[in-house]
Amino acid sequence: MRVLFIGDVYMKLGQKAFDKYFLQVKNDYKPQFIIVNGENIEQGNGLSKKIYKDYLLQGVNVFTLGNHAFSRRDAKEVLDLDYVCRPANYGEGTTGKEWVEYNFNDKKIVVINLLGRIFMRDPIDNPFTKADEILKKVKADYIIVDFHAEATSEKYALAHYLDGRVDAIIGTHTHVPTADNMVLPKGTLYQSDVGMTGAKNSIIGGEIRQGIRKFISGVPERIKPEEKSNLQFNATMLDLDNKTIERINIYEENY
Ligand SMILES: [Fe+2]
Ligand SMILES: [Fe+2]
Repeated sequence: MRVLFIGDVYMKLGQKAFDKYFLQVKNDYKPQFIIVNGENIEQGNGLSKKIYKDYLLQGVNVFTLGNHAFSRRDAKEVLDLDYVCRPANYGEGTTGKEWVEYNFNDKKIVVINLLGRIFMRDPIDNPFTKADEILKKVKADYIIVDFHAEATSEKYALAHYLDGRVDAIIGTHTHVPTADNMVLPKGTLYQSDVGMTGAKNSIIGGEIRQGIRKFISGVPERIKPEEKSNLQFNATMLDLDNKTIERINIYEENY
């Protein structure tokens, strides 16, 4: 099973980078199944119905989300869509799905999205015990986890905790791709962070001047997305049967 996992598509330039490189990457790598982290895909964060429909038509199979899953006014409707997977470790009664099941020919693929707790704001449940709980309930041929977290230590701990119990654990959220794509000892494919798709010259997608100002002053400001930069497209290609994991990092040259 060849799976393409595309990292956080960040707002307008994320969509632009997706439009520019998706087809090329699809043709080059020939994935059978495509996951996109869409937590920042729309202006103001979150995923919209329009993007969902549009990307599904282009061949995307499942969207995962993150800490911005609930940022939009229409979040409830979006979270109810069939192939949208929100972070599972929010409390009981939270709208949306704790995992998404997808029937691919005669195989069942399960996609799980979990949020980390280190340096993250929401008072969420433990991702380790939540993973145990879900894995007791699901039966699948392939299980892929998007671990949306800030700290690489937490990512490695969850990766080794789930090694051999899921097929792949791909990190998201930092927007910076790591070079540690590997096969863990018990066979699970792993990368700490897949990186983002969007503005290359930015502070993880945000405007540079504003980002610097915020760190100098310490005064919080709502992030202004960078809208003029050249682009980056970051993804990871997984072969779940042959146990290979390859990074795809497209960085456009500077002006
Ligand atoms: Fe993100
Ligand atoms: Fe995030």
